[in-house]
Amino acid sequence: MMDARARHAHALFAGIAAEYEWMGAVLSFGQDARWRRAMVEVLAPRPGQLVLDVASGTGLVARRIGARGARVIQFDPSEAMLRAGQRAARAAGLTSALHPVLGRAERLPFGDATFDAVSFTYLLRYVDDPGATMKELTRVLRPGGRLACLEFHEPRAPVLRAGWFGYTRYVMPRVGALASPEWRATGVFLGPSITRFYADHPLAEQARWWQEAGLRHVHSRVMSLGAGVVWWGQLDG
Ligand SMILES: C[S@@+](CC[C@H](N)C(=O)[O-])C[C@H]1O[C@@H](n2cnc3c(N)ncnc32)[C@H](O)[C@@H]1O
Repeated sequence: MMDARARHAHALFAGIAAEYEWMGAVLSFGQDARWRRAMVEVLAPRPGQLVLDVASGTGLVARRIGARGARVIQFDPSEAMLRAGQRAARAAGLTSALHPVLGRAERLPFGDATFDAVSFTYLLRYVDDPGATMKELTRVLRPGGRLACLEFHEPRAPVLRAGWFGYTRYVMPRVGALASPEWRATGVFLGPSITRFYADHPLAEQARWWQEAGLRHVHSRVMSLGAGVVWWGQLDG
């Protein structure tokens, strides 16, 4: 049975899957592509490697990894999101590199140390226990393997923060409403969800999740004036 958080995420992404890729680019002023590129850069997947991409959605990250010659398990609980990316995967000639699997990050249906690398995007705001989920994501990583993630972030400098607040609270819901009622609801949800996440879990606590999961050489890079953050770390080999 799904809990309230999981039910909300399921309904949210079912309603926005069809427009997800271009709306994400519009709402982030094209910055989201830079963040994914930076994340895949630090993940550094190599040809022939097996990579798990969690919260894969329509496959924006998975396709970048597949294009580098790795095999990718595209893991996500939303059939609508996975399906919405299939045409783009075909157009990129990547259908044989990408393998969609339905499921939730909290309980991965894979053995210990299965993957050469693991990525996840915008995931931890949708789970009840992010620290435990980090341990589960690390469990399936082989010794020496890399874990990398991308998440939204709140600018810290007061002026930037005020601009970000105005944009997420007032502009995003209105731009979303131009696309559909579901996008309006997403625009209303997203800003407060990010604010709550950092109020409950400051960056220092998040760094502890990575370390307590067993990861070493943990780094974070805040991007786009503070609107996004890429994290990465490595298991001792
Ligand atoms: C904002 S999308 C990210 C999609 C894509 N990776 C990208 O780069 O934009 C977040 C995804 O997380 C998935 N998700 C939500 N809860 C999850 C969970 N508990 N485990 C794994 N994925 C989850 C959603 O279905 C959705 O496809």
